[in-house]
Amino acid sequence: MPAGFQQLGGERVTGTLALSVFTAVLGSLAFGYNIGVINAPQKIIERDYNATWMQRYSQPIPPATLTSLWSLSVAIFSVGGMLSSFCVGFISEWLGRRKAMLINNLTAFIGGGMMGMAKLCQSFEMIILGRFIIGAYCGLASGLVPMYVGEIAPTSLRGALGTLHQLAIVTGILIAQILGLESILGSEELWPVLLGVTVLPTVLQMALLPFCPESPRYLYIIRCQEHHAKSGLRRLTGRQEVGDALAEMKEEKRRMDMERKVSIAELFRSPLYRQPIIIAILLQLSQQLSGVNAIFYYSTSIFQKAGVQSPVYATIGAGAVNCAFTVVSLFLVEKMGRRTLHMLGLGGMCICAIIMTMALALLESVPAMSYVSMLAIFGFVAFFEVGPGPIPWFFVAELFSQGPRPAAMAVAGCSNWTANFMIGMGFQYIADLCGPYVFLIFAALLLFFLLFTFFRVPETRGKTFDQISASFQRRPASMMDLDLDMDMGMDKASTELEYLGEG
Ligand code: GLC
Repeated sequence: MPAGFQQLGGERVTGTLALSVFTAVLGSLAFGYNIGVINAPQKIIERDYNATWMQRYSQPIPPATLTSLWSLSVAIFSVGGMLSSFCVGFISEWLGRRKAMLINNLTAFIGGGMMGMAKLCQSFEMIILGRFIIGAYCGLASGLVPMYVGEIAPTSLRGALGTLHQLAIVTGILIAQILGLESILGSEELWPVLLGVTVLPTVLQMALLPFCPESPRYLYIIRCQEHHAKSGLRRLTGRQEVGDALAEMKEEKRRMDMERKVSIAELFRSPLYRQPIIIAILLQLSQQLSGVNAIFYYSTSIFQKAGVQSPVYATIGAGAVNCAFTVVSLFLVEKMGRRTLHMLGLGGMCICAIIMTMALALLESVPAMSYVSMLAIFGFVAFFEVGPGPIPWFFVAELFSQGPRPAAMAVAGCSNWTANFMIGMGFQYIADLCGPYVFLIFAALLLFFLLFTFFRVPETRGKTFDQISASFQRRPASMMDLDLDMDMGMDKASTELEYLGEG
């Protein structure tokens, strides 16, 4: 048995479980780093684009071309993510979760290497291509990590361990914001290092993955390797006797064997999966269309417009708040449940968006409003991390059993990245059009997602994958109305699901 474990939520966190989760979320760290890295050094890298242009064409780059090249460098990251996240299902089934993560790191080396060498080669094409490739890496990581962590976590810790994916993302964002300061790596000479540093966590992940077991659920349910699944379970739980965990998987496998293979089209066609896939997509949309990335991509200019004196430090402040509140969510998610926290987060964000709008609208007449708007932005980010940040990522893995899970993760991931791309590309245009009222659009969307969550999203805390998917099978679509049993206690959860009209 691995030495040194802690007691958390009544479950032992063995050394192997801790190592496996830590190793997996190194991918999430690299993902977050690449979200945050492009914000601060914009002006400095743009100068290099101009220098390259001068050298090639002996004239300065036209401003419109520079804007297009820069927007492309930022947004092509999400295009990479969109395309690759769609392949998560197929790759994770073909290679297994662990090998897929291992091989994905090669993508990061190529992408990070290209961006790191771009200055030397005087090529902005290398940055753009590098951002696309690193986006593809992040798209795969954003599906593989929550899937692997969700599958190896014991039921009572699935939410808390699932939140670590988001915690690593926000840590990555914060590290990138700090390293991006001009006095550290965001300088004329060192920006290639800033962009290339992304390979470090991936090297560490490659070194550690061989010591982590493959997901036993994958080995047993998909590969039918009972012996290997058992030994993985023993390492992860630190127990010799793993009959109970295996029995649960057997039940899931039995159910799965009765179903046909689930394709993406099937998810939408079959009444069994239609409700959960709609919930999965809308949760991802609630994360992205909340407007959080308007802050993370454009915070410096938002703070500037709000009259904040040092926008770069305010951006780092937002990153720190972002981290702190993900930790809060980590501790609350197994106590308060996913549904409650998600609603709390969406509601809080909606109120902050309204306060921010009022503050921006009054800024001209009341200069002190710049502080109010800064606090509203911090509040917006804090509420995001309470629910809408971490929960959608692992909730999708929870909504589906082993059979449909990979296809569902692909669809959900692709929706997330598409919405991310839309905000990344469209926010500045909409902001120019709406001025200080731009966040009212997000407030309206947040209200819609809050109502959707209230009426449609069930609680999954403390339930096994099999119980969760069985709940959708037992509940016809017409009964997806108010769920009275949404906050069921952990003890009750292990027995049966009871829904309105059934219990
Ligand atoms: C989530 C989102 C990501 C966002 C981040 C902010 O991980 O998926 O797009 O930038 O949270 O913390």
